[in-house]
Amino acid sequence: MNPACNAVADAAEIAAAARVLEAGGLVAFPTETVYGLGADAENPAAVARIYQAKGRPNDHPVIVHVAPGADLDYWVTDIPDAARQLVDAFWPGPLTLILKRADHIPDAVSGGQDTVGIRCPSHPVAIALLSAFKGGKGGVAAPSANKFGNVSPTTAQHVRDEFHVNDAEEGSITGEDACSAELLSTVLEGGASQVGIESTIVDLSRLATHGPVLLRPGHISAQQIADVIGQVPAAPDQAAPRASGTLESHYAPRTPVTMVEHVALADIVTQLQTKGVKVAVISHALPALGDSQRMLPAEPVGYAYGLYAALRDMDLVQADVILVETPPQAEPWHGVNDRLRRSVFGSAGVLARFLGQ
Ligand code: TXA
Ligand code: MG
Repeated sequence: MNPACNAVADAAEIAAAARVLEAGGLVAFPTETVYGLGADAENPAAVARIYQAKGRPNDHPVIVHVAPGADLDYWVTDIPDAARQLVDAFWPGPLTLILKRADHIPDAVSGGQDTVGIRCPSHPVAIALLSAFKGGKGGVAAPSANKFGNVSPTTAQHVRDEFHVNDAEEGSITGEDACSAELLSTVLEGGASQVGIESTIVDLSRLATHGPVLLRPGHISAQQIADVIGQVPAAPDQAAPRASGTLESHYAPRTPVTMVEHVALADIVTQLQTKGVKVAVISHALPALGDSQRMLPAEPVGYAYGLYAALRDMDLVQADVILVETPPQAEPWHGVNDRLRRSVFGSAGVLARFLGQ
């Protein structure tokens, strides 16, 4: 497909992508949350290519994506009623369930754990791909289509930028980047991901002993889950399954990022500029900074939709630091604040350094 053309992938492109998956190749595809980097979940060599392309530690589990109406019993065992209730309420949609894995799930998918993450996405291109792949009976293992630790992609262009798709043809890249580009040549176009942050993850694999556990907050809130299963999911405990999206540093641009309260923002921008520091700003209302700023809405759904694109855009303006106005802390902002906290983790102390404090 012509990368300049943003038309959503058509049936022929989707069918061709399903054949790539069946042959053990990688396909990047849109979901309603973020773009995924997919491989046949039952082919360990194909799943290994995901890790290779992402540069991700291979003991981190990946989510299995299934078509609407897929047979849950094929993929997981010991399915509690709560899981079926959540599937009925939220699939297709941005909810991943962690359940005991079926024996045939490769270790490469579960990261050697006895559980597997499973979800049915709602993006029409994802549904069409999953329905075409192995006649709708397959599972596509897919983490977000970004290099390990980076900001997740919410457009096909983000994926092409991340993996240098097309650059390889021009021979302009070498080493690891060339290797990733060679592994990934199929990127299905699906427009901007509607939700913009990754799926909510609920662990139901230890229900009897620990109850439901919220491993990653997202668009579907803890309260919405409680409304369906009658129990509010708890925060992760020490023994909760590992999730790389829950590492302290993740979703991070290359430029240092720091949070600034609304009341201090204008003053800090001025102080930094006085010292010759180039700032980029993501906020609700702004100091005027031309191209080095993005405004995000003052409500959590619109904010999540624009967050990753804003971080990527501000990463490109060659700023010394990206200031993000601290969003509200209320429950509906939980997913956004969770991602921001991990984005800023590696940049601790950056403001004090620039301000000479
Ligand atoms: O919205 C999403 O979930 C996107 C789209 C592509 O579906 N996928 C995504 O995948 O965010 P990834 O790999 O970037 O994040 C999935 C998270 C990781 O933190 C992983 O460790 C966790 O899910 N995970 C997967 N299987 C798990 C398991 N069996 N136990 C605990 N955590 C698991
Ligand atoms: Mg990810």
